[in-house]
Amino acid sequence: MKYLIDKLEVTGSLTKEEFVLLLNYTSPALSEYLFEKSRKTAGKYFENHVYTRGLIEFTNYCKNDCLYCGIRAGNRNAERYRLSKDEILSCCADGYALGFRTFVLQGGEDCAYSDSDIADIISDIKEHYPDCALTLSIGEKEDESYRLIYEAGADRYLLRHETANAAHYGLLHPKRQTLENRKRCLYALKKIGYQVGTGFMVGSPFQTTECLAEDLLFIKELSPQMIGIGPFIPHHDTPFAHQAQGSLERTLFLIGILRLLIPNALIPATTALGTIDPMGREKGILAGANVVMPNLSPVKVRKKYELYDNKICTGEEAAECRSCLQNRMKSIGYKLVVDRGDFQPIN
Ligand code: 5AD
Ligand code: FES
Repeated sequence: MKYLIDKLEVTGSLTKEEFVLLLNYTSPALSEYLFEKSRKTAGKYFENHVYTRGLIEFTNYCKNDCLYCGIRAGNRNAERYRLSKDEILSCCADGYALGFRTFVLQGGEDCAYSDSDIADIISDIKEHYPDCALTLSIGEKEDESYRLIYEAGADRYLLRHETANAAHYGLLHPKRQTLENRKRCLYALKKIGYQVGTGFMVGSPFQTTECLAEDLLFIKELSPQMIGIGPFIPHHDTPFAHQAQGSLERTLFLIGILRLLIPNALIPATTALGTIDPMGREKGILAGANVVMPNLSPVKVRKKYELYDNKICTGEEAAECRSCLQNRMKSIGYKLVVDRGDFQPIN
């Protein structure tokens, strides 16, 4: 299978059949072969630098009902919260002092915030921190709303496609949520001018190797600036409570593949990866990721933004995430940098 990794490195993609073959014949030795290349590729564009994004989870109200997610509308046990604009600004103030130059406002699809509420929050943050990038992650909207939010100063938008296989998408979501609309959103965001991030869960229920191959081909086609993947982790109050968790090795292998697929992409070692293995984020960086997203939300709400069980960084240690990650990255020879960490096109 090494020849497929060589081919991926040289040509920047594989056929669906080749991806399936590669994913069906993984081994520790093949992973090491891949990671040597993916690490070297990341190093070529980013040296040993790791970018940070300060994540502010500002609302866990959500009108959607994704079957895997702990804050789905149908979960009556979720304790809901919203942060006020002042609370959000205070997270940014703390974050700025700590060295964050990107803030990510993430939330459920919460109808309580109108487009102009969001625009207002964005322009306030931008006014206070003009040297910072602002990323939104608030789900599916109309093109016009995306435009308004962009004009208010948002630079980037994260919206995982979750799975590029329509039938699989239908098994993870209620009927009213469609892959078609998700894709419409992603292409609209790109067209408007956002730096766009997409991605998927590894090992989500009913996922096949073919699904993953389709995810990779969709990502190649969309050509996003950011790609976030993490293992599926069951949440006890969802219909998927008893489904198996995604695998660490498979997630790392896919990070390596993504690095060769889009060499200059911004790829986080996600919190979910850190949740299934105490060294998950370090392993993610060593597989080719180059971003970490420590939590900046107020400690009192962190446990409530529970997409999956046992999420890390929600306890007393939570205020220390940046310095914790700084030490963790240093321990593997990488450096957290104070930088917006924008996508840099290859000439
Ligand atoms: N396990 C892992 N990741 C999850 N997400 C939502 N629920 C889970 C879960 N149970 C991911 C989705 C979503 C992102 C914000 O979190 O991919 O896009
Ligand atoms: Fe949050 Fe280590 S990154 S405590």
